[in-house]
Amino acid sequence: MKQRPRFQASGVHHAGAKAGKAIFMNGVTSEQIPACMECHGANGQGASTFPDIAGQRYRYIVQQLTYFHNGTRKNELMNQIAKNITVPQMKEVAAYLSSL
Ligand code: HEC
Repeated sequence: MKQRPRFQASGVHHAGAKAGKAIFMNGVTSEQIPACMECHGANGQGASTFPDIAGQRYRYIVQQLTYFHNGTRKNELMNQIAKNITVPQMKEVAAYLSSL
């Protein structure tokens, strides 16, 4: 997959980035949410077929996670990963990623 150019960080800070970082790094074992970094890389920079999600816009990330969660956007891996994610967790992980 072709890598897109780096995103321009918006500079806007959203609440929950610290909790979002924990989800990104460790996942949420009790809800069977894997660590995002396993595929998207330690800094969210992506690798091979896994997209670069560092610095994407907060609202875009929340929207895409919602779509993966409810199946509007189809991807075998992400549909499974987003299955149990809650709206607060989506916002936290989006706060973290949009801050990168
Ligand atoms: C098992 C590998 C894997 C893991 C773990 C994973 N992802 Fe993904 N992710 C993918 C793949 C593959 C895609 C590309 C999906 C597609 O092409 O539609 C993707 C796409 C995305 C996108 C959409 C990017 C875009 O440009 O539209 C977001 C946002 C995202 N992932 C967030 C997360 C978050 C947050 C986590 C952790 C809760 C996570 N991912 C964990 C594999 C993974």
